[in-house]
Amino acid sequence: MDTLLFTLNLCVLLVVADYAHGTRNVAIGKTASMSSNHREYKWLAQTAVDGNVGNNSMLSDTCFHTTKEYQPWWRVDLHQDYYITSVVVYNRLDCCANQARKIKLTIGKSLDSMSQAGHLDGGFTTTHTFTVDPPLVGRFVQLQLYGITEFFHLCEVEVMAYPSGTYNVATGKTASQSSNFSTLKYHASTAVDGYAGDNRFASDSFFSTTKEYQPWWRVDLHQDYYITSVVVYNRLDCCANRARNIKLTIGKTLDSMSQAGYLDVLFTTPHTFTIDPPLVGRFVQLQLKGITEIFHLCEVEVMAYPSGTYNVAFGKTASQSSNYNTSKYNATTAVDGNVGDNAFASDSCFCTAKEYQPWWRVDLHQNYYITSVVMHYQLDCCGNQARNIKLTIGKSLDSMSQAGYLDGGFTTHTFTIDPPLVGRFVQLQLKGITEFFHLCEVEVMA
Ligand SMILES: *[C@@H]1O[C@H](CO)[C@@H](O)[C@H](O)[C@H]1NC(C)=O
Ligand SMILES: *[C@@H]1O[C@H](CO)[C@@H](O)[C@H](O)[C@H]1NC(C)=O
Ligand SMILES: *[C@@H]1O[C@H](CO)[C@@H](O)[C@H](O)[C@H]1NC(C)=O
Ligand SMILES: *[C@@H]1O[C@H](CO)[C@@H](O)[C@H](O)[C@H]1NC(C)=O
Repeated sequence: MDTLLFTLNLCVLLVVADYAHGTRNVAIGKTASMSSNHREYKWLAQTAVDGNVGNNSMLSDTCFHTTKEYQPWWRVDLHQDYYITSVVVYNRLDCCANQARKIKLTIGKSLDSMSQAGHLDGGFTTTHTFTVDPPLVGRFVQLQLYGITEFFHLCEVEVMAYPSGTYNVATGKTASQSSNFSTLKYHASTAVDGYAGDNRFASDSFFSTTKEYQPWWRVDLHQDYYITSVVVYNRLDCCANRARNIKLTIGKTLDSMSQAGYLDVLFTTPHTFTIDPPLVGRFVQLQLKGITEIFHLCEVEVMAYPSGTYNVAFGKTASQSSNYNTSKYNATTAVDGNVGDNAFASDSCFCTAKEYQPWWRVDLHQNYYITSVVMHYQLDCCGNQARNIKLTIGKSLDSMSQAGYLDGGFTTHTFTIDPPLVGRFVQLQLKGITEFFHLCEVEVMA
């Protein structure tokens, strides 16, 4: 259990190191296909997800090429849903670049549910980025020349997405249940062991309570997640109908659980409680409502985004309304990853001049799902100067909206943004007062 938790945390750290923008190309090495092949043995669909743009030339043999046909298409199957933020295409330049034109981008969770995510009417030369904003959740990404009869070729297609899409965050976490059917086995943890045990009693891989009024099972995920669904696997060798009247609740604490689903019919294939819009929570509970029964399930999966897991402000572009000193205390010092011992003397804090409504701002370079903003103040001087702080977030500077407000008096303060806001710009401003504005670090968790 601890090993798994450690592994998850380690993944988050690696993501920060490798993917400064929070997204990465999830198409490399996935399964590509296309409407027709110009050659049997080369220029196949897979060449566009080999991580090699090949000199933007067909001669490199790392570009795909269809026959000339009506509305040719190319597609990649990402093997799971991802939170897709952009699709980048690379053209061939050795000749015929204008053949890749009138490109329609569609994305879907299944091939039956593709929806348009972008289009490019004209052609393009080296590269073009389809920005998908707000991001779309999908597994299939398709590019198609619409309305024309043409060859279709590209040298590479990158699908930029958040690191994991959703994944089962329950495996290996701490589970408990209202009672134990046996002291020796069928404990709560068997439902988060990553093994549904062929849905059979004999597998010993299912939990079971005693027969009691409103028995429950619960998992503690150890931190908040952005939960999109909960999947339950029933026992099928007998007694499947015992698992009925199931109420699903989710909460950040056990005192604040709210209902996220209800199932009152017999289920023999895995049942998915879809949570749309997603709920932020740490505890997930299943309970048989209003009945006296034995409760058992073979596995419970909690699908979630890795939300609120790392600071996306680090190293981004910061600015401020004025400078206290032209040679130090600039805006960048608040996104350098260094709180500077909460000391102004560290020279790792920003400071504006004394002025009316001074502000500090960071441009995250793209939109993020922002869940909180953390401010670190200094302790070695200046008392309560940082007060009346208004937090605004927006996709553009023209569309900033208020996300928090703090009167004053803090060393470290977290603005919790619940539900999360999508935005690229995060601004902090002292409202209605004439003052210096200074902080040692600002973290934007997304
Ligand atoms: C790069 O492309 C040009 C044609 O545009 C070709 O002549 C050249 O050989 C290519 N170089 C490599 C290393 O493939
Ligand atoms: C069930 O058994 C497990 C393992 O021995 C124990 O940790 C847990 O507290 C028991 N639960 C109840 C409700 O007695
Ligand atoms: C600005 O900082 C420099 C370098 O530390 C210092 O010499 C100078 O006196 C400071 N200026 C003001 C106006 O505080
Ligand atoms: C901002 O200040 C830091 C630390 O004092 C310095 O390393 C950096 O070069 C400065 N950046 C700008 C744009 O002045």
